[in-house]
Amino acid sequence: MKFQASFRALLFSHAMIHIAECKSAIRYQSIVSRVHIAPRCSAQSPSFVSPINSLPATAQKHQTCLSSSAPRPPPSSLPSWERITNHQTSKTVKLFKSVHKANKSKRLQLGLTVAEGVRLVTDILADEQSRKFIRRIVISEELLSSVDDGDDNQRKLQHWLRVVHNESIQRKKDYDESDGETSNDNSCSINVGTEQVVTACAGTVTTQGIVALMQIPEPFNPLFNPSKNSPFYLVLDGLADPGNVGTLLRSCAASNVDALILLPDSCDVYNPKAVRSAMGASFRVPVLDLGDSRVADDLKPRDFEELLELFEQCGIDSTRVFAATMEDSASQPNGRLLRTSMPHYKVDWIANTAGESGGAALILGKEGEGLRNEVCNAVQQGKISTVHVPMAEGTESLNAAVCGSVIMFERMRQLLITDELNQ
Ligand SMILES: *[C@@H]1O[C@H](CO)[C@@H](O)[C@H](O)[C@H]1NC(C)=O
Ligand SMILES: *[C@@H]1O[C@H](CO)[C@@H](O)[C@H](O)[C@H]1NC(C)=O
Repeated sequence: MKFQASFRALLFSHAMIHIAECKSAIRYQSIVSRVHIAPRCSAQSPSFVSPINSLPATAQKHQTCLSSSAPRPPPSSLPSWERITNHQTSKTVKLFKSVHKANKSKRLQLGLTVAEGVRLVTDILADEQSRKFIRRIVISEELLSSVDDGDDNQRKLQHWLRVVHNESIQRKKDYDESDGETSNDNSCSINVGTEQVVTACAGTVTTQGIVALMQIPEPFNPLFNPSKNSPFYLVLDGLADPGNVGTLLRSCAASNVDALILLPDSCDVYNPKAVRSAMGASFRVPVLDLGDSRVADDLKPRDFEELLELFEQCGIDSTRVFAATMEDSASQPNGRLLRTSMPHYKVDWIANTAGESGGAALILGKEGEGLRNEVCNAVQQGKISTVHVPMAEGTESLNAAVCGSVIMFERMRQLLITDELNQ
Protein backbone atom coordinates (compact mmCIF):
# COMPACT_ATOMS: atom_id res chain seq x y z
CA MET A 1 0.00 0.00 0.00
CA LYS A 2 1.27 3.44 -0.94
CA PHE A 3 1.57 6.35 1.44
CA GLN A 4 -0.31 9.42 0.36
CA ALA A 5 1.70 11.85 -1.69
CA SER A 6 5.03 13.12 -2.83
CA PHE A 7 7.84 13.72 -0.41
CA ARG A 8 9.58 17.07 -0.44
CA ALA A 9 10.50 17.44 3.18
CA LEU A 10 8.87 17.16 6.54
CA LEU A 11 7.94 20.70 7.24
CA PHE A 12 5.67 21.81 9.95
CA SER A 13 3.98 25.01 10.80
CA HIS A 14 5.99 25.60 13.96
CA ALA A 15 9.31 25.54 12.11
CA MET A 16 8.71 28.37 9.71
CA ILE A 17 12.31 29.49 9.60
CA HIS A 18 13.45 26.06 8.65
CA ILE A 19 10.97 25.62 5.88
CA ALA A 20 12.83 27.50 3.20
CA GLU A 21 16.16 25.96 4.17
CA CYS A 22 14.80 22.49 4.21
CA LYS A 23 12.82 22.74 1.00
CA SER A 24 15.82 23.85 -0.93
CA ALA A 25 17.94 21.28 0.86
CA ILE A 26 15.72 18.42 -0.10
CA ARG A 27 15.27 19.59 -3.68
CA TYR A 28 19.00 19.85 -3.96
CA GLN A 29 19.34 16.46 -2.44
CA SER A 30 17.07 14.88 -4.97
CA ILE A 31 19.52 16.07 -7.62
CA VAL A 32 22.76 15.28 -5.83
CA SER A 33 21.76 12.14 -4.06
CA ARG A 34 23.48 11.05 -0.86
CA VAL A 35 24.87 14.51 -0.16
CA HIS A 36 23.74 15.47 3.28
CA ILE A 37 22.43 18.96 2.85
CA ALA A 38 19.47 18.57 5.12
CA PRO A 39 20.18 19.49 8.71
CA ARG A 40 21.65 16.50 10.45
CA CYS A 41 20.87 15.59 13.95
CA SER A 42 23.62 16.90 16.26
CA ALA A 43 25.12 15.14 19.25
CA GLN A 44 23.44 15.33 22.62
CA SER A 45 21.35 12.98 24.60
CA PRO A 46 17.58 13.27 24.28
CA SER A 47 15.93 15.61 26.69
CA PHE A 48 13.37 13.52 28.43
CA VAL A 49 12.29 15.44 31.45
CA SER A 50 11.78 13.17 34.39
CA PRO A 51 8.82 13.98 36.58
CA ILE A 52 9.69 15.72 39.78
CA ASN A 53 8.15 13.87 42.62
CA SER A 54 9.26 15.86 45.59
CA LEU A 55 6.99 18.42 47.14
CA PRO A 56 8.06 21.69 48.67
CA ALA A 57 7.23 22.07 52.32
CA THR A 58 4.52 24.58 51.50
CA ALA A 59 1.72 22.07 51.82
CA GLN A 60 0.13 23.54 54.88
CA LYS A 61 -2.55 21.75 56.77
CA HIS A 62 -5.80 23.55 56.71
CA GLN A 63 -8.48 22.27 59.01
CA THR A 64 -12.12 23.07 58.62
CA CYS A 65 -14.82 22.01 61.00
CA LEU A 66 -17.75 21.54 58.68
CA SER A 67 -19.90 18.49 58.78
CA SER A 68 -18.77 15.86 56.30
CA SER A 69 -21.96 16.07 54.26
CA ALA A 70 -21.69 19.78 53.42
CA PRO A 71 -19.17 20.56 50.68
CA ARG A 72 -16.19 22.25 52.27
CA PRO A 73 -14.71 25.39 50.77
CA PRO A 74 -11.54 24.86 48.75
CA PRO A 75 -8.31 24.98 50.75
CA SER A 76 -7.40 28.58 51.45
CA SER A 77 -3.98 28.11 49.86
CA LEU A 78 -5.59 27.48 46.48
CA PRO A 79 -6.86 30.25 44.24
CA SER A 80 -10.61 30.31 43.75
CA TRP A 81 -11.39 29.12 40.27
CA GLU A 82 -14.48 29.73 38.25
CA ARG A 83 -17.26 27.26 38.98
CA ILE A 84 -19.27 25.39 36.39
CA THR A 85 -22.66 24.46 37.75
CA ASN A 86 -24.72 23.48 34.74
CA HIS A 87 -23.42 20.48 32.85
CA GLN A 88 -25.93 20.98 30.04
CA THR A 89 -25.17 24.55 29.05
CA SER A 90 -21.47 24.84 29.86
CA LYS A 91 -19.28 25.49 26.83
CA THR A 92 -16.41 23.73 28.53
CA VAL A 93 -18.47 20.57 28.98
CA LYS A 94 -19.51 20.75 25.32
CA LEU A 95 -15.90 21.04 24.23
CA PHE A 96 -14.89 17.98 26.27
CA LYS A 97 -17.81 16.05 24.81
CA SER A 98 -16.93 16.94 21.23
CA VAL A 99 -13.34 15.78 21.78
CA HIS A 100 -14.59 12.47 23.19
CA LYS A 101 -16.92 11.99 20.27
CA ALA A 102 -14.32 12.84 17.64
CA ASN A 103 -12.72 10.20 15.45
CA LYS A 104 -8.99 10.30 14.74
CA SER A 105 -9.03 12.83 11.91
CA LYS A 106 -11.50 15.07 13.68
CA ARG A 107 -9.42 14.92 16.87
CA LEU A 108 -6.27 15.91 15.01
CA GLN A 109 -8.17 18.71 13.34
CA LEU A 110 -9.34 19.98 16.73
CA GLY A 111 -5.80 19.39 18.00
CA LEU A 112 -7.20 18.24 21.32
CA THR A 113 -7.49 15.14 23.44
CA VAL A 114 -8.47 14.31 27.02
CA ALA A 115 -6.59 12.97 30.05
CA GLU A 116 -8.49 11.75 33.11
CA GLY A 117 -7.85 10.77 36.69
CA VAL A 118 -5.77 12.04 39.61
CA ARG A 119 -2.69 9.96 38.87
CA LEU A 120 -2.52 10.71 35.15
CA VAL A 121 -3.31 14.42 35.43
CA THR A 122 -0.82 14.81 38.30
CA ASP A 123 1.90 13.03 36.30
CA ILE A 124 1.26 15.32 33.35
CA LEU A 125 1.25 18.40 35.60
CA ALA A 126 4.50 17.34 37.25
CA ASP A 127 6.37 17.04 33.95
CA GLU A 128 7.46 20.44 32.71
CA GLN A 129 7.30 19.46 29.07
CA SER A 130 3.90 17.73 29.25
CA ARG A 131 2.37 20.47 31.39
CA LYS A 132 2.63 22.93 28.51
CA PHE A 133 0.03 20.92 26.61
CA ILE A 134 -2.72 21.28 29.24
CA ARG A 135 -5.33 23.76 28.09
CA ARG A 136 -8.10 23.24 30.60
CA ILE A 137 -8.66 21.37 33.83
CA VAL A 138 -12.00 20.61 35.40
CA ILE A 139 -11.82 19.43 38.99
CA SER A 140 -14.71 18.40 41.20
CA GLU A 141 -15.58 20.28 44.36
CA GLU A 142 -15.19 17.06 46.33
CA LEU A 143 -11.67 16.41 45.11
CA LEU A 144 -10.66 20.02 45.57
CA SER A 145 -11.88 20.15 49.16
CA SER A 146 -10.11 16.89 49.96
CA VAL A 147 -6.72 17.83 48.53
CA ASP A 148 -5.85 19.61 51.73
CA ASP A 149 -6.13 16.67 54.05
CA GLY A 150 -5.75 13.94 51.51
CA ASP A 151 -2.92 11.53 50.92
CA ASP A 152 0.37 12.21 49.20
CA ASN A 153 -1.16 12.06 45.73
CA GLN A 154 -3.65 14.75 46.58
CA ARG A 155 -1.04 17.01 48.13
CA LYS A 156 1.03 16.54 45.00
CA LEU A 157 -1.98 17.46 42.87
CA GLN A 158 -2.57 20.56 44.98
CA HIS A 159 1.01 21.68 44.53
CA TRP A 160 1.01 21.22 40.78
CA LEU A 161 -2.34 22.93 40.36
CA ARG A 162 -0.82 26.00 41.98
CA VAL A 163 2.23 25.77 39.73
CA VAL A 164 0.18 25.53 36.55
CA HIS A 165 -2.06 28.33 37.79
CA ASN A 166 0.96 30.61 38.30
CA GLU A 167 2.50 29.68 34.97
CA SER A 168 -0.75 30.35 33.19
CA ILE A 169 -1.05 33.82 34.64
CA GLN A 170 2.46 34.54 33.36
CA ARG A 171 1.76 33.08 29.92
CA LYS A 172 -1.48 34.96 29.59
CA LYS A 173 0.36 38.16 30.51
CA ASP A 174 3.11 37.46 27.96
CA TYR A 175 0.47 36.74 25.33
CA ASP A 176 -1.51 39.91 26.03
CA GLU A 177 1.66 41.99 26.03
CA SER A 178 2.78 40.50 22.74
CA ASP A 179 -0.26 42.07 21.03
CA GLY A 180 -1.00 38.89 19.17
CA GLU A 181 2.55 38.48 17.91
CA THR A 182 2.85 35.28 19.88
CA SER A 183 0.59 33.03 17.90
CA ASN A 184 -0.78 31.01 20.80
CA ASP A 185 -2.31 31.77 24.10
CA ASN A 186 -0.91 28.69 25.78
CA SER A 187 -2.44 29.29 29.15
CA CYS A 188 -4.38 26.66 31.04
CA SER A 189 -7.71 27.52 32.60
CA ILE A 190 -8.94 25.71 35.65
CA ASN A 191 -12.59 25.24 36.54
CA VAL A 192 -14.30 23.73 39.52
CA GLY A 193 -17.43 21.72 38.86
CA THR A 194 -19.97 19.51 40.50
CA GLU A 195 -19.40 15.77 40.22
CA GLN A 196 -22.04 15.80 37.49
CA VAL A 197 -20.08 18.35 35.48
CA VAL A 198 -16.83 16.39 35.76
CA THR A 199 -18.60 13.18 34.79
CA ALA A 200 -20.10 14.93 31.76
CA CYS A 201 -16.59 16.00 30.71
CA ALA A 202 -15.20 12.50 31.08
CA GLY A 203 -15.32 9.50 28.84
CA THR A 204 -15.21 7.00 31.68
CA VAL A 205 -17.65 6.59 34.52
CA THR A 206 -14.97 6.72 37.21
CA THR A 207 -13.31 10.05 36.65
CA GLN A 208 -11.73 10.39 40.09
CA GLY A 209 -12.88 13.99 39.97
CA ILE A 210 -10.45 15.47 37.49
CA VAL A 211 -10.25 15.77 33.70
CA ALA A 212 -7.84 17.71 31.53
CA LEU A 213 -8.14 18.92 27.99
CA MET A 214 -4.79 18.40 26.28
CA GLN A 215 -3.41 20.03 23.18
CA ILE A 216 -2.05 17.43 20.77
CA PRO A 217 1.70 18.09 20.23
CA GLU A 218 3.02 19.12 16.82
CA PRO A 219 4.12 16.21 14.64
CA PHE A 220 7.74 15.21 15.13
CA ASN A 221 10.08 16.17 12.32
CA PRO A 222 13.05 13.78 12.08
CA LEU A 223 15.00 16.30 10.01
CA PHE A 224 14.92 18.84 12.81
CA ASN A 225 15.67 16.52 15.68
CA PRO A 226 18.08 18.89 17.39
CA SER A 227 19.83 16.54 19.71
CA LYS A 228 20.88 13.30 18.10
CA ASN A 229 23.34 11.82 15.69
CA SER A 230 22.28 8.26 16.35
CA PRO A 231 18.55 8.28 16.97
CA PHE A 232 16.42 5.27 17.73
CA TYR A 233 12.85 5.21 16.44
CA LEU A 234 9.99 2.82 17.01
CA VAL A 235 7.86 2.40 13.89
CA LEU A 236 4.32 1.04 14.19
CA ASP A 237 2.94 -0.65 11.12
CA GLY A 238 -0.84 -0.68 11.51
CA LEU A 239 -1.14 -1.40 15.23
CA ALA A 240 -4.80 -1.09 16.12
CA ASP A 241 -5.28 -1.45 19.86
CA PRO A 242 -5.08 1.89 21.74
CA GLY A 243 -4.00 0.02 24.89
CA ASN A 244 -1.02 -1.47 23.07
CA VAL A 245 -0.07 1.86 21.53
CA GLY A 246 -0.26 3.61 24.90
CA THR A 247 1.80 0.89 26.57
CA LEU A 248 4.42 1.15 23.83
CA LEU A 249 4.60 4.94 24.24
CA ARG A 250 5.16 4.44 27.94
CA SER A 251 7.94 1.96 27.19
CA CYS A 252 9.44 4.40 24.65
CA ALA A 253 9.67 7.08 27.33
CA ALA A 254 11.10 4.62 29.84
CA SER A 255 13.75 3.26 27.49
CA ASN A 256 14.86 6.55 25.93
CA VAL A 257 13.44 5.97 22.46
CA ASP A 258 13.71 9.19 20.47
CA ALA A 259 10.40 9.14 18.65
CA LEU A 260 7.44 7.05 17.62
CA ILE A 261 6.63 6.89 13.92
CA LEU A 262 3.31 5.53 12.68
CA LEU A 263 2.81 4.21 9.16
CA PRO A 264 -0.53 5.23 7.63
CA ASP A 265 -3.63 3.50 9.03
CA SER A 266 -2.04 2.75 12.37
CA CYS A 267 -3.84 3.46 15.60
CA ASP A 268 -4.45 6.93 16.92
CA VAL A 269 -1.83 7.72 19.56
CA TYR A 270 -3.93 10.55 21.00
CA ASN A 271 -7.09 8.51 21.40
CA PRO A 272 -8.10 9.12 25.07
CA LYS A 273 -7.76 5.36 25.72
CA ALA A 274 -4.22 5.36 24.36
CA VAL A 275 -3.47 8.49 26.41
CA ARG A 276 -4.69 6.65 29.51
CA SER A 277 -2.47 3.63 28.84
CA ALA A 278 0.53 5.85 28.09
CA MET A 279 0.40 7.33 31.62
CA GLY A 280 1.63 10.76 30.52
CA ALA A 281 4.19 9.57 27.95
CA SER A 282 1.93 10.83 25.14
CA PHE A 283 3.21 14.35 25.70
CA ARG A 284 6.86 13.47 26.21
CA VAL A 285 7.62 11.12 23.34
CA PRO A 286 7.68 12.90 19.97
CA VAL A 287 5.29 11.30 17.48
CA LEU A 288 5.15 11.42 13.69
CA ASP A 289 2.01 9.87 12.24
CA LEU A 290 2.37 9.53 8.47
CA GLY A 291 -1.42 9.56 8.25
CA ASP A 292 -1.66 12.85 10.17
CA SER A 293 -3.67 15.33 8.09
CA ARG A 294 -1.88 18.20 9.83
CA VAL A 295 1.23 17.34 7.79
CA ALA A 296 0.72 18.31 4.16
CA ASP A 297 0.58 15.25 1.90
CA ASP A 298 3.45 16.40 -0.24
CA LEU A 299 5.59 16.87 2.82
CA LYS A 300 5.69 13.30 4.07
CA PRO A 301 7.25 10.10 2.74
CA ARG A 302 5.14 8.71 -0.11
CA ASP A 303 6.06 5.11 0.49
CA PHE A 304 8.31 2.88 2.58
CA GLU A 305 11.26 3.54 0.25
CA GLU A 306 11.01 7.23 0.97
CA LEU A 307 10.74 6.60 4.68
CA LEU A 308 14.02 4.66 4.44
CA GLU A 309 15.55 7.62 2.57
CA LEU A 310 14.40 9.90 5.34
CA PHE A 311 15.98 7.57 7.89
CA GLU A 312 19.27 7.69 5.93
CA GLN A 313 19.23 11.45 6.32
CA CYS A 314 18.83 11.05 10.06
CA GLY A 315 21.79 8.70 10.35
CA ILE A 316 19.87 5.42 10.22
CA ASP A 317 21.22 3.07 7.55
CA SER A 318 18.52 0.75 6.06
CA THR A 319 20.40 -2.30 7.30
CA ARG A 320 19.87 -0.86 10.79
CA VAL A 321 16.11 -0.87 10.32
CA PHE A 322 14.76 -4.03 11.97
CA ALA A 323 11.33 -5.46 11.32
CA ALA A 324 10.07 -7.59 14.22
CA THR A 325 9.00 -11.06 13.16
CA MET A 326 7.31 -13.90 14.98
CA GLU A 327 10.11 -16.43 15.00
CA ASP A 328 13.53 -17.12 13.58
CA SER A 329 12.21 -18.32 10.25
CA ALA A 330 10.55 -14.93 10.12
CA SER A 331 7.24 -16.21 8.87
CA GLN A 332 4.38 -13.77 9.00
CA PRO A 333 0.91 -14.52 10.36
CA ASN A 334 -0.33 -14.22 6.78
CA GLY A 335 1.90 -17.13 5.81
CA ARG A 336 4.52 -15.08 4.03
CA LEU A 337 8.03 -16.29 4.73
CA LEU A 338 10.78 -13.80 5.25
CA ARG A 339 14.51 -14.28 5.65
CA THR A 340 16.01 -15.71 8.80
CA SER A 341 15.64 -13.31 11.69
CA MET A 342 18.11 -12.40 14.46
CA PRO A 343 17.30 -12.92 18.14
CA HIS A 344 16.85 -9.47 19.70
CA TYR A 345 19.74 -9.91 22.14
CA LYS A 346 22.21 -10.68 19.34
CA VAL A 347 21.54 -7.41 17.55
CA ASP A 348 24.01 -4.70 18.45
CA TRP A 349 21.53 -1.85 18.94
CA ILE A 350 24.28 0.67 19.59
CA ALA A 351 26.88 0.06 16.89
CA ASN A 352 26.76 -1.23 13.34
CA THR A 353 28.89 -4.11 12.03
CA ALA A 354 31.79 -1.73 11.49
CA GLY A 355 31.63 -0.82 15.17
CA GLU A 356 30.49 2.72 14.48
CA SER A 357 27.68 4.07 16.53
CA GLY A 358 24.65 4.98 14.48
CA GLY A 359 20.92 5.18 14.57
CA ALA A 360 18.49 2.29 14.36
CA ALA A 361 14.78 1.70 14.02
CA LEU A 362 12.42 -1.09 15.02
CA ILE A 363 9.24 -1.84 13.06
CA LEU A 364 6.34 -3.61 14.76
CA GLY A 365 3.58 -5.16 12.68
CA LYS A 366 -0.13 -5.27 13.34
CA GLU A 367 -1.52 -7.61 15.98
CA GLY A 368 -2.39 -10.91 14.31
CA GLU A 369 -1.54 -9.70 10.83
CA GLY A 370 2.13 -8.82 10.86
CA LEU A 371 3.94 -6.47 8.55
CA ARG A 372 2.45 -4.84 5.46
CA ASN A 373 3.61 -6.01 2.05
CA GLU A 374 5.81 -2.99 1.43
CA VAL A 375 7.82 -3.81 4.55
CA CYS A 376 7.93 -7.55 3.74
CA ASN A 377 9.23 -6.70 0.26
CA ALA A 378 12.01 -4.58 1.71
CA VAL A 379 12.99 -7.53 3.91
CA GLN A 380 12.95 -9.98 1.02
CA GLN A 381 15.06 -7.66 -1.09
CA GLY A 382 17.58 -7.55 1.74
CA LYS A 383 17.15 -3.81 2.24
CA ILE A 384 16.19 -4.01 5.89
CA SER A 385 16.90 -6.57 8.65
CA THR A 386 14.65 -8.66 10.87
CA VAL A 387 14.62 -9.39 14.58
CA HIS A 388 12.58 -11.62 16.87
CA VAL A 389 12.22 -12.37 20.57
CA PRO A 390 13.00 -16.05 21.16
CA MET A 391 10.20 -17.83 23.03
CA ALA A 392 9.68 -21.15 24.77
CA GLU A 393 8.66 -23.98 22.53
CA GLY A 394 4.93 -24.26 21.93
CA THR A 395 4.41 -20.52 22.40
CA GLU A 396 2.87 -18.96 19.34
CA SER A 397 3.25 -15.26 19.83
CA LEU A 398 3.74 -12.35 22.17
CA ASN A 399 1.47 -9.36 22.61
CA ALA A 400 2.73 -6.62 20.27
CA ALA A 401 3.34 -4.17 23.13
CA VAL A 402 5.27 -6.81 25.12
CA CYS A 403 7.37 -7.78 22.10
CA GLY A 404 8.22 -4.15 21.31
CA SER A 405 9.00 -3.35 24.94
CA VAL A 406 11.28 -6.37 25.36
CA ILE A 407 13.33 -5.27 22.35
CA MET A 408 13.42 -1.59 23.36
CA PHE A 409 14.65 -2.52 26.83
CA GLU A 410 17.32 -4.80 25.38
CA ARG A 411 18.63 -1.71 23.57
CA MET A 412 18.39 0.22 26.83
CA ARG A 413 20.38 -2.53 28.57
CA GLN A 414 23.09 -2.27 25.92
CA LEU A 415 23.15 1.52 26.31
CA LEU A 416 23.53 1.23 30.07
CA ILE A 417 26.36 -1.30 29.76
CA THR A 418 28.12 0.89 27.19
CA ASP A 419 27.81 3.84 29.57
CA GLU A 420 29.20 1.77 32.44
CA LEU A 421 32.18 0.63 30.36
CA ASN A 422 32.88 4.20 29.34
CA GLN A 423 33.03 5.45 32.90
C1 LIG B 1 -14.65 11.52 11.19
O1 LIG B 1 -15.62 12.45 11.62
C2 LIG B 1 -15.89 13.50 10.69
C3 LIG B 1 -16.85 14.48 11.30
O2 LIG B 1 -17.03 14.32 12.64
C4 LIG B 1 -16.45 12.91 9.41
O3 LIG B 1 -16.69 13.94 8.47
C5 LIG B 1 -15.46 11.92 8.84
O4 LIG B 1 -16.00 11.30 7.72
C6 LIG B 1 -15.07 10.87 9.88
N1 LIG B 1 -13.97 10.09 9.35
C7 LIG B 1 -13.93 8.77 9.38
C8 LIG B 1 -12.73 8.14 8.79
O5 LIG B 1 -14.85 8.12 9.86
C1 LIG C 1 2.34 31.15 42.97
O1 LIG C 1 2.36 32.55 43.03
C2 LIG C 1 2.13 33.07 44.33
C3 LIG C 1 1.98 34.57 44.22
O2 LIG C 1 2.87 35.13 43.32
C4 LIG C 1 3.27 32.64 45.23
O3 LIG C 1 3.07 33.12 46.54
C5 LIG C 1 3.33 31.12 45.27
O4 LIG C 1 4.44 30.68 46.02
C6 LIG C 1 3.41 30.54 43.89
N1 LIG C 1 3.24 29.11 43.99
C7 LIG C 1 3.94 28.22 43.32
C8 LIG C 1 3.66 26.79 43.61
O5 LIG C 1 4.76 28.54 42.47
